[in-house]
Order: sequence, then structure tokens, then C-alpha cells
Amino acid sequence: MSNLLELRGLDKRFESRKGLFGKTRAMMAVSGVDLDVPRGRVTGVVGESGCGKSTLARLVLRLLKPSAGEVIFDGTELGSLSPSALRNLRRRMQMVFQDPYSAIDPRYSMAEALLEPFRIQGIRLSAAEAQAKVAELLAMVGLGAQMAASYPHQLSGGQRQRIGIARALALKPDFLVLDEPTASLDVSIQAQIVALLEQLQADLGLTYLFISHDLGLVRYFCDRIVVMYLGRIVEILPEPKAPPRHHYTRTLMDSNFAPDPAQRRQIKRLTGEIPSAFDLPKGCAFAARCPAADDTCRRVRPEFTTDAAGHAHACHHPL
Ligand SMILES: Nc1ncnc2c1ncn2[C@@H]1O[C@H](COP(=O)(O)OP(=O)(O)OP(=O)(O)O)[C@@H](O)[C@H]1O
Ligand code: SF4
Ligand SMILES: [Mg+2]
Repeated sequence: MSNLLELRGLDKRFESRKGLFGKTRAMMAVSGVDLDVPRGRVTGVVGESGCGKSTLARLVLRLLKPSAGEVIFDGTELGSLSPSALRNLRRRMQMVFQDPYSAIDPRYSMAEALLEPFRIQGIRLSAAEAQAKVAELLAMVGLGAQMAASYPHQLSGGQRQRIGIARALALKPDFLVLDEPTASLDVSIQAQIVALLEQLQADLGLTYLFISHDLGLVRYFCDRIVVMYLGRIVEILPEPKAPPRHHYTRTLMDSNFAPDPAQRRQIKRLTGEIPSAFDLPKGCAFAARCPAADDTCRRVRPEFTTDAAGHAHACHHPL
């Protein structure tokens, strides 16, 4: 099977209550997501803050239960698994977080942090095996063996993220979800981490789901690009250079795609009001900000259509 991961009709609904006796309001953080993630490739997910990227990541790893829909990993629907079968499968799917500090217990030495995944899985290692494992993992991410005795506060942000990546690789997974892995780092360090991720992906034949709000980075790094807006996929670019067909992607590219990272800082804010996720319009959710919006857009939600090249979009008046 060429897809390592398939998402089918995935919804995640969050409820929140205003005040103690207030009315409960519901919002769809992720809505109707269908996606194929091909094996051995890098699939990018891009969109503005709050569009549901991290929720999608947590659904994919079943750190969150979907309200509806299926997550099928290598032919197995995760919802059908017993807790122990799910724990077993988790060896194969790991996450790298944005904030490497939050993912590492500050009381752990780097050796302990790297051995934690084995402990969680109940895998016993002799002292010699553990030491060799730690050295191997540190070398994989370009860190020296002396780093084993360090504590998180002694490390730079880039070094901590390398440890985060090493830890994710400890159990030899085939799939990594990377949730903004470079967003908290300086631009020069970002480039080093991206280079490391590229090299590991090629060397180990990994499949990545790479999440970022930075379309420039995603276009550089990913084989395919999934664009999300307010919980829904609005476009899938089958290759990073494909010209966008959805107006939201076009707007993101105009505002976000400056190849020079220094310029990217001066991102022009997208104009128009973002509808509240609690009160989505019935037509296209981008209509309030779209230069091509007409009455149909405001009344009828555009269906998702895919052309022969695998380029998919949900827009009544594609570019
Ligand atoms: N546990 C939760 N309970 C209620 N609402 C939540 C919860 N987690 C996320 N949300 C809401 O779901 C929406 C999507 O959040 P999510 O964190 O997935 O967005 P994101 O695309 O990752 O944003 P960012 O780029 O800022 O990380 C947001 O409106 C958020 O407030
Ligand atoms: S459906 Fe209409 S409002 Fe939505 S992106 Fe396409 S043209 Fe714009
Ligand atoms: Mg997020």
C-alpha cells in the first residue's frame, strides 16, 4: 500500500461553556478532513494560527479521540485497537513538538530523556546496551556523546530540539509528526534543524507530516502541501511548486512567501475578518476575506474536487 496514513472524514468538536451557567458552545477545530499521506514522503500542513493543525496532529497520533471519522495507519484503524495494541503501534508513530523544553522533563539528564521511550514501552536494556543506544541516538542528531550527562537547562534551543528529535527516533519509528519543530528557534538554527530533518528522512526512509504556519518553509521542505483554513482542508498542492488554485493559498503565498527569512518577518497581515470558529458562515469560510467572493460563495460551501494531477481544492471560482 502506498499510503502509510489515511484520514477519512475526520472531525474534532470542542465544547466550551461561558461562565458556570452559560450556554455550551461547540466549535469544529477539525472538520471533514480526508487525507492520504504517502509512504516515505514529506507531507506539509500549513495554515494560520488556530486553523486546527495541532489538533489534527493529536488526532493522527490518537492523543485525542476524533468526534467522527477514521485514522488508518498502515491499514489499521486506530479506533479499533485495544490500549495495549495502540501502545505497540505507537512505537512506529512519534511526535516532535514545537517547544523542545516542554517535551523534556527538566530533572532528566539527556541520557535519561533518551531512554524514557524504552521505559514507557517496557523494553529492558542492560547498562551497556543503554549506553550504546544513547551514544547512537546522540550521533544520529549530530551531538557528541558527552551530551549524555547534560541537563535541559544546560542546552541551547537547537540542542534541545536535536534531543527532541533523537527521542522521537529512539524506537525506530517509520512516521513522524513534526508540529512546528523550528518555530521557537532563531532563523540560522532553524536552517540547521531543517537540514538535519531532511537528512534523517532520506537516510531512514521516514514518512513525515510536517506542520507549519510558514508556507515558505513548507514549500522548501515538503513534497506535497495541505492548506487548512478554519478546520478544513481547502487545497492540496501535489507538488510544492504547483501554482495555487484556492484564493486563500494565493493570499498566503503573497503575504508569506519571501524566500529571505529576514523579510518573512515583515509578513503583511491578511486583510478581512476571520469568522469565529464558533459561528462559521454556511458558504465558503474564506468569503469574508476573498477578493473573488460572490453570492454563491456566501451561500454554498464549495465541494472538494481533485484533478488528474492530484491537485485538490474547494473553491467555486478557482484560479
Ligand atoms: N482542548 C481544547 N479545548 C477547546 N478548544 C480547543 C482545544 N484545543 C484546541 N482548541 C481550539 O481549536 C482550534 C484549533 O487549535 P489548534 O491548536 O489545533 O490550532 P493550530 O493551527 O495548531 O494553531 P497554532 O498555529 O497557533 O499552533 C483553536 O480555536 C483552539 O482554540
Ligand atoms: S469559494 Fe468563493 S470565497 Fe471561497 S475561495 Fe473560492 S472564490 Fe473565494
Ligand atoms: Mg499548533
